[in-house]
Amino acid sequence: MTTLATVITGASSGIGEALAHLFAPEHQTLVLVARRKDRLDVLAKELNSKHGIKVHVIAQDLQEVGAAATLMNAISALNLTVDTLVNNAGFGVSAPFAKADGAKTSGMMQLNMVTLTELTHMVLPAMLERRHGRIMNIASVAAFQACPYFAVYAATKAYVLSFTEALAAEVADRGVLVTAVCPGSTATGFHEVANSQGALINKISDSPEMVAEEAYKALNNGKVVVVTGLFNKPLPAINRLLPRKTMTWAVTKMMGR
Ligand SMILES: NC(=O)c1ccc[n+]([C@@H]2O[C@H](COP(=O)([O-])OP(=O)(O)OC[C@H]3O[C@@H](n4cnc5c(N)ncnc54)[C@H](OP(=O)(O)O)[C@@H]3O)[C@@H](O)[C@H]2O)c1
Repeated sequence: MTTLATVITGASSGIGEALAHLFAPEHQTLVLVARRKDRLDVLAKELNSKHGIKVHVIAQDLQEVGAAATLMNAISALNLTVDTLVNNAGFGVSAPFAKADGAKTSGMMQLNMVTLTELTHMVLPAMLERRHGRIMNIASVAAFQACPYFAVYAATKAYVLSFTEALAAEVADRGVLVTAVCPGSTATGFHEVANSQGALINKISDSPEMVAEEAYKALNNGKVVVVTGLFNKPLPAINRLLPRKTMTWAVTKMMGR
C-alpha cells in the first residue's frame, strides 16, 4: 500500500523551512526537496524527533529540464503518493534586463514556472480521483504589477498567480484545495541570491515564519489567493485603482536603482 505524503520544494531555508515546521504536526510523511542536502538533513532530523514522523530528503536541482519527472520517480520509488504539494522553491534575478545573466534568467524561468507546472500536472489527476489533496504555489506581490529591474522574476510570479487562480477554478468543489501565496519582502536568503539587498522595497520585511503561518491557514481554509503581511494586503486593490504606468513608476523608485 502506498503512503500519503506532503512534498515541500525549497525546504532548506526561508519560507519553505518554516512551512515544513507547520506541516510536520499533521503527521503525514514529509518529503523535503532542495539542493543543500546538509540543511535538509538537519531539518529532517529535527522534525522527526519533534513529531515522530517519517521525513525523506531528496537533494535535487529543480531548475534542470525534466526535474519534475525525476523528482516524481524518486517519490514513487519511496512508495509515496503526493497528497500535498508545496511549490515553494524559487529565486529571483535583480538587474537591468540587458545586463542580467542569461543562463541564470533561463534557470529561474524553468524553476519558478516550468517545474512548478509540471509537478502540479503530475500530482493533480490522482488527487482528483481520490477527491483529496492540497496544492500551495508560492507567487509574490511582484505578481500584481510590472517590476523594472526584477522584470523576468515578476513575470514568472504573475504566471504562478494566473495559473493557480485558473487551476483553483477548474478543480473547485472536487476535493482539492489550491492556493497562491503572495508574500511581500521577507527576511530570507532570497535577497542575497537575487542581489536585491539594496532595494527600498526591502526596508520592511516580514519573517518567513509569519508568511508561512498565513499561507498554511489560507490553504486549509480554501482561500485561492493570500497576500501575506499587513502592509501588503492593499496592493492588489491599489493596482486595480492606479494606472499601470503609475504603478510601474512607483516600483522603479522602490527598487532603488
Ligand atoms: N523572500 C522574499 O522577499 C520573497 C517574496 C515573495 C516571494 N518569495 C518566494 O518565496 C519562495 C521561497 O523563497 P525564500 O524567500 O524562502 O528564499 P530562500 O531562503 O532563498 O529559499 C529558496 C528555497 O528554494 C530552493 N531552491 C532555489 N533554487 C533551487 C533549485 N535550482 N533547485 C531546488 N531548490 C532550489 C533553495 O534551496 P537550495 O538553495 O538548497 O537548493 C531554498 O530552499 C520563492 O519562490 C520566492 O520567489 C520570496
